[in-house]
Amino acid sequence: MYKYYPEDIIEEVRISNDIVDVVMEYVRLERKGKDYFGLCPFHKEKTPSFSVAPAKQIFYCFGCGKGGNVIQFIMEIENLSYIDAVKLLADRARIQLPDGDSPEEKEKALIKRRLIEINTEAARFFFSMLNSPKGEKARWYLKNRDIKESIIRKFGIGYSGDSWNELFIYLKKKGFEEEHILKSGLVLLNKAGTFYDRFRERIMFPIFDIRGNVIAFGGRVMDSSKPKYMNSPETVVYNKSKNLYALNFAKNSGEKRLIIVEGYMDVISLHQSGIINTVASLGTALTESQGRTLKKYAEEVIISFDADTAGQAATMRGLDLLSDIGCNVKVLKIPDGKDPDEFIRKNGVDAFKKLIDKSISLVEYKIEILKKNIDTDTVDGKIKFLNKTADILSKIDNSVEREMYVKKLAAQYRISEESIFSEVYKRINKTAGLKTPAINAASRKKISKGIQEDGIDARILHDERFLLALLCVDNSIYRTVKDKITPDIFSDSQNKEIARIILERIEDGRGIVPGELLGMLENDIADDFARLFNEECHCDDNKKAILGTIRNIEMNRLKKRQNEILDILKNREELTKGDVEKLEQELMSLIMRIKNYKNI
Ligand code: GTP
Ligand code: MN
Repeated sequence: MYKYYPEDIIEEVRISNDIVDVVMEYVRLERKGKDYFGLCPFHKEKTPSFSVAPAKQIFYCFGCGKGGNVIQFIMEIENLSYIDAVKLLADRARIQLPDGDSPEEKEKALIKRRLIEINTEAARFFFSMLNSPKGEKARWYLKNRDIKESIIRKFGIGYSGDSWNELFIYLKKKGFEEEHILKSGLVLLNKAGTFYDRFRERIMFPIFDIRGNVIAFGGRVMDSSKPKYMNSPETVVYNKSKNLYALNFAKNSGEKRLIIVEGYMDVISLHQSGIINTVASLGTALTESQGRTLKKYAEEVIISFDADTAGQAATMRGLDLLSDIGCNVKVLKIPDGKDPDEFIRKNGVDAFKKLIDKSISLVEYKIEILKKNIDTDTVDGKIKFLNKTADILSKIDNSVEREMYVKKLAAQYRISEESIFSEVYKRINKTAGLKTPAINAASRKKISKGIQEDGIDARILHDERFLLALLCVDNSIYRTVKDKITPDIFSDSQNKEIARIILERIEDGRGIVPGELLGMLENDIADDFARLFNEECHCDDNKKAILGTIRNIEMNRLKKRQNEILDILKNREELTKGDVEKLEQELMSLIMRIKNYKNI
């Protein structure tokens, strides 16, 4: 029964459905290191033990032991047979299964095929219309917008003439049935029962699916009449909320990042300039499904929407959406409210490449917008800005990243690091207190006192645990930090013990995964580690994160010692002159070393 479809087709279905994408449609997943974790959909649980490994394309639950590949996941969750699960996934990936069995399925598959054929023929029709005498005005328009012959051919740009039914007649002549032509959305039927073309006197942009099939069109007027753009309606082959314009080209760019812009012309302009890792959402708000597609093809997504108010709102939404599904996002800002196409035409491609390099992170973008909207010259404004900034920073899971931003912002906006830190920690402490018994009651109290001596202890404790959690999530980084880590470097006795377990397991080759470690810990420590796994261990680069954390721990130790000495020196009359000298010397060297850390 399992061999109903040929093996290679089943394999195509399996690899065309990324397991993370599929599981995410049912389970909220969070990335930790290379893998994703969430609450198991197959048994009741409060802490996530359900994991998905994109590299291996498998899921596994440490709680109930269920596991398998994407097809088995669908079988379990949708309660389907193997064959039906394959069908569902084939459909999802728009893969044509051979000989769909039931008559309805055969009919559905036929219609899909026909609609692609019709759209392809229509593209040929529009293209030849553009290059016919009737297309003169359209050719002139494209020339005026600096669109080269080669890019017209690559994108299959065409022109729909002024006739009412030339396309319809052409398609009929090609032998397509009226019913199918109508379903393509390229032709409409009026009340009198006559067919007429949807697009007239427009520059025509074919819209491709990921495989390069023409599935729809966008048509732009050549003057200022409205609507500026008109699109094919949604059909069985065209799903507006899933499609990304030019992804069929962009996915082959070999780049790790994709740039997403708003419009046809922006994409075309960028591709013409050699920046082919660009796609467009075609004016509509970015959807989650588009987000997942972007994530599948890129390690980093750069949003470059228009700078007007609508564009700004779209950018903010897009950023949140993409980062929520675990995408690394950045924002490319174009000066003077231009769109990418206008900017490139005016300033050239090199200037645009510079903008790409200067694109900023989600956090920086949000804070920049804040700054724009708050008058920080007043005291009230300053406080408001500090508070809102702290709100944003406290949502960053990773402490190393958070600290980096605090430093950067302190310098950029001339606020002291300490006051930002103390506001941020107030907030983190609040939410941590609500959600999980973070760290322990004693150190929680310490954090709330602010970034005094006690705060340093809490930060060291936290960083030590984060370091251990990260090692557990990604055993491979041990090699990088081997020389720097022994159980002895941990100041907390429980952390020492946990370090001993983890290091031993990694060194003797058995390795250790989060699910295992949690099983070895007492409840409250396990909770804290579960929280770390869940909320903080999502680093882009685990090596960098662990090195940064070690550095933080070392620096905080130095600061702690610095504070101790300052405390002792407060009562210097009680000390001998020699002691004071010694302490002052130590203090100087500490200050130098801390400075060095800061400069790295
Ligand atoms: P140009 O004005 O030719 O440079 O196009 P653009 O791509 O810069 O367009 P704009 O910034 O005005 O809009 C961005 C995208 O939104 C377009 O590419 C279209 O996909 C979409 N869009 C804009 N106007 C309309 C419209 O009137 N109707 C529809 N359906 N979509 C539109
Ligand atoms: Mn434009």
